[in-house]
Amino acid sequence: MKILVTGGTGYIGSHTVVELQKKGFEVIIADNLSNSSIDVVDNIGRITGIKPLFEKTDLSEPEPTQDLFRRYPGLNAVIHFAAFKAVGESVMQPLKYYRNNLGSLMNLLREMETHGIRDMVFSSSCTVYGQPDILPVTESAPVKKAASPYGNTKQIAEEIITDVSKVNALQAILLRYFNPIGAHESALIGELPLGIPNNLMPFITQTAIGKRDFLSVFGKDYPTPDGTAIRDYIHVVDLAQAHVIAIERMLEGKNKQKVEVFNLGTGIGYSVMDVIKSFERTTNVKLAYRFVERRPGDVEKVWADTEFANRELGWKARRGLDEMTLSAWRWEQRLAGL
Ligand code: WQD
Repeated sequence: MKILVTGGTGYIGSHTVVELQKKGFEVIIADNLSNSSIDVVDNIGRITGIKPLFEKTDLSEPEPTQDLFRRYPGLNAVIHFAAFKAVGESVMQPLKYYRNNLGSLMNLLREMETHGIRDMVFSSSCTVYGQPDILPVTESAPVKKAASPYGNTKQIAEEIITDVSKVNALQAILLRYFNPIGAHESALIGELPLGIPNNLMPFITQTAIGKRDFLSVFGKDYPTPDGTAIRDYIHVVDLAQAHVIAIERMLEGKNKQKVEVFNLGTGIGYSVMDVIKSFERTTNVKLAYRFVERRPGDVEKVWADTEFANRELGWKARRGLDEMTLSAWRWEQRLAGL
């Protein structure tokens, strides 16, 4: 079985390629390398023993997308990760986000139709729920108005996929990720943020390694047990494995609807302080941090109801917070050549 993985040199994409190859899938990566490194392709090869095929392609342009599908006949399915994902940047440059994230999706869907490729797994986000009224959040919780153009591209993409599936053969599984952190146990692949990280885990590891002076903890007056905000952090390898199961589900015709939606989280909420304490405990490194104002746009708490994904996919996140923080640290150490 041949799978096209767009954004396959990115953080979640690269871990998914590893898990696909481990299950015997042949993988073609398409990525424009705008936020990832070509070295990832070799490192995937070092982990699995198979270097995936790689195409540097801009999927937001129709011609290169057509060309890609022409050159790789016989694709069985597409896992679509390729997208810009910086929330703040999306507020400043909305058109860049709408054009890239939605343009590439539409180009892909058209080529899939042309070439008779039915199945797509799409990277969505728990950001579609905003601050949910009921926790844990189930897949049927209402989608709230997006707080950023980035979040809006995820909502609109879900709608585009759903609309297209009504009029052609397209089937899709929309995976709503909670907060993926951690890295592969080999420390050969992991998150590689460009510039100053926006997200918590890379900011922690970069501070600990000495690239940043201190971590700013955004808000200590949230209505949570320790006053810091709560998220559902999930190990990126657990997340990657869910993609393989989702693809297999469609290829084997086990999906129950043309478009299915699953939350991918652990079901456990941890606060920012829980993450810091786990990091300090597992690594024996003391982290420099300061409490600052809340970050605009942040929700106070969110964690997943995982019952539906556990039951329907037969999948459960197995790795705990300590394994997440320690693997993230090993990856940062390897980047630093330690
Ligand atoms: C986690 C917690 C912060 C950095 C965002 C996007 C979402 C998504 C994943 C993208 C929060 C706190 C963070 C820091 C801090 N999708 N924090 N100091 O905000 O839950 O989700 O990234 O690809 O759409 O919104 O993740 O890692 O930024 O923050 O205190 O320097 O850590 O306030 O409570 P978030 P995050």
